Order: sequence, then C-alpha cells, then structure tokens
Amino acid sequence: MNESESAPQPPLDDAVRPHVFDGIQEYDKRLPNWWLFTLYCSIAFSIAYWIYVEKFEAVPDGAIAVQEEMAETRLAASGKSGESTDDSLWTMSRDKTLIAAGKLTFDTTCASCHRPDLMGMIGPNLRDQKWVHGGTPMTAMKTIEEGVLAKGMPPWAAVLGKKKITEVTAYIFSYHEKGEPAEIAPWVPTMGAPPEAAPVAPQPSPVAPAPAQPAS
Ligand code: HEC
Repeated sequence: MNESESAPQPPLDDAVRPHVFDGIQEYDKRLPNWWLFTLYCSIAFSIAYWIYVEKFEAVPDGAIAVQEEMAETRLAASGKSGESTDDSLWTMSRDKTLIAAGKLTFDTTCASCHRPDLMGMIGPNLRDQKWVHGGTPMTAMKTIEEGVLAKGMPPWAAVLGKKKITEVTAYIFSYHEKGEPAEIAPWVPTMGAPPEAAPVAPQPSPVAPAPAQPAS
C-alpha cells in the first residue's frame, strides 16, 4: 500500500513529525497564539485564585457560611413582623453564632460603660440577678432600644437597628438561665472600681460550703 501518493502533500514549510502510527503522520504545527494566550492566562488565574482562597481565606468556609445563613434565618423568623418574645430571645441566647455577633456589638458599643465582662461600671452589672428595669430579655431589650437618658443609658434603636439589638440582647442573656430569680434593685455606678469590687452575689463565708450557684 503506497499511501504517500494518495495522501495530500503538506506544504513545504510544514514539518512532519518523524513518528508514524498505523501509517498516520502528524504535522508539527505551532499552537496558535490566541490559544496559547488563553492557556497561560488560565494557568496564571488558577494560581492567583488559589492564593486568594487559601492564603487570604477570602472566600468563606462553606460550613461557616451555612451556619451564618441559618442564624440569619432564625433571626428573621423570630423577628417576623418585628416582634421578639422572651422565648425567642432565650432561644437565641443559646445560639453560638448570634452570641458571637452580639459580643462584637457589645465590646465595641457597650463595654465602655458596662465593662467588657458585663460586670458593671457606669452602667449596671448585666450578669448578676439584680436588674434596674426587670430581668427578662424583653425588658432589657426595651431598655437597650429606648435608653434611660436621664440615668446615662443612651437609646440604641436608631444607632444599631433591630438585628444588632436582638443579637446583643441574646449575648447578655447567654450569661443567664431561663427562670433564674431576678430582683429589682437600683444601680450605684462604680466608676473605675476594680473587678473584685464589682457587686456580685454576696460571697459566702469561707468556712460554710458554698450554695450551688447557677452558672453565670
Ligand atoms: C454611656 C454609658 C452607657 C453605654 C455606652 C451603654 N449603657 Fe447600658 N446603661 C447605662 C446606665 C447608666 C444604665 C442604668 C440606667 C438606669 O439606671 O435606669 C444602663 C442600663 C442598661 C440596661 C438595663 C439594666 C437593668 O438592670 O435593667 C441594659 C440591658 C443595658 N444598659 C444594655 C446596654 C447595651 C446592650 C449597650 C450597648 C448597645 C449599652 N447598655 C450601652 C449606661 C450605658
């Protein structure tokens, strides 16, 4: 079989590769520039994208993104028609994602008066079982929204918005247990007092066994 006679002849400047498979030979063509350009761009992009994702953690972890979205949904569901309830706030106060978001707001906005550990300074201790205005999530949220300007607590509704106020309330009540006693007592500011001096529950004498305290 003489194929070289019937096969079309390549132009002279097109080199033919030396190997032969089943009598078939390949031209040694250079890849077109547009094709090479696309290839090199894709390689460069893949490296840059890998660095962007892996090193700078710019794209949120899928699991975290899902958790955040679910927390948002729970928040939206509980706040539908803008109504929170003590129950919904108690539920949210066990939600890690909401608490973390609330802590962020608290640390930047509230800690200057209530201390970062919530133990009170200019504003009341928010971890003990004494409250100026009542110890339910809804009463606390109302105080946060409306403030008590005469006593130095600013109103936050317009500044923070519903979502952040709900989160910060959940954060405060993550230090409390549903059904724990709540006593109404005025707050005496303890400007700059050391943490040990912050009024907490009265300390039992060292000899008597300490009564079981709810975790706070
Ligand atoms: C400028 C100081 C200041 C800042 C900032 C501040 N508070 Fe207060 N807060 C107070 C004072 C003072 C009171 C006590 C009001 C009273 O005696 O009626 C108070 C009361 C409260 C109460 C009611 C406590 C109770 O015992 O009934 C809550 C809840 C509260 N603050 C939460 C917050 C939150 C949440 C933020 C941040 C968004 C915040 N506060 C920011 C000063 C402050």
